[in-house]
Amino acid sequence: MRTDRKAMGGWWKVLGIVLVIWAGVAVVPVQAADLDPYVVRYLRVTEAIELPMTGDRSQSFSPVQLSEGKRLFEGSCKNCHLGGATLPDPTAPLSLDALRGATPPRDTIAQLVAFMRQPMTYDGTEESVWCRQVPDTWMSQAQVENLAAFILRAAEKAPGWGTADF
Ligand code: HEC
Repeated sequence: MRTDRKAMGGWWKVLGIVLVIWAGVAVVPVQAADLDPYVVRYLRVTEAIELPMTGDRSQSFSPVQLSEGKRLFEGSCKNCHLGGATLPDPTAPLSLDALRGATPPRDTIAQLVAFMRQPMTYDGTEESVWCRQVPDTWMSQAQVENLAAFILRAAEKAPGWGTADF
C-alpha cells in the first residue's frame, strides 16, 4: 500500500510539472514568439518606430513587422548580403551611405521596394543579373515593406552592418 501511494505521489508530481510548463508556455504573449531578439538588441526596436516611406512621408513599423522582415531577409537575401555586405559585389553593400549613393537612391521604404521588385545595377542603367527579384506573386506589398524596413533599420542601427569587416 505504502509503495503504491508513493508511486501515485510521483505521478501527481510529474503531472504537476507538466501542467506548470504547459501553463507557462500558454501564457507567453503571442507577440513574444514572433519577436526576434536581434530586433530588440541590435536594432533597438521595442515599440513601433517611424521609417521614411518616401522623402517626405514616414510609416510606422512594429517590432513584430521588423522581425518578419528579418526572417524574410535571412531566408532569401542573407546568402549574398551577410551582415549587410554584398558578397558578389562588395562595392554595393546595404549600408546607409551606399543606399543613399545609388542611382536612384535606395534609402526609403518605397525606393527599396521598387528596387526589390526590379533590381538594378548600382548606377541604375541596367537590370541586375545578380540580385534576387521579388515579384508580388512571391511577397505581398506588406511583406516586402517589412523586409525593406528591416534593411533600413539595420543600416541605421546594426553594429557593423554593410561594412567589409563582418
Ligand atoms: C545571388 C546573390 C544575391 C541575392 C540572393 C540577393 N542579392 Fe541583393 N544584390 C546582389 C548584388 C550583386 C547587388 C549589387 C547590384 C548588382 O551588382 O547587380 C545587390 C544589390 C542589392 C541592393 C542595392 C544595394 C546598394 O548599395 O544600392 C539591395 C537593396 C539588395 N540587393 C537587396 C536584396 C534583397 C532584399 C534580397 C533578398 C530578397 C537580395 N538582395 C538578394 C546580390 C544578391
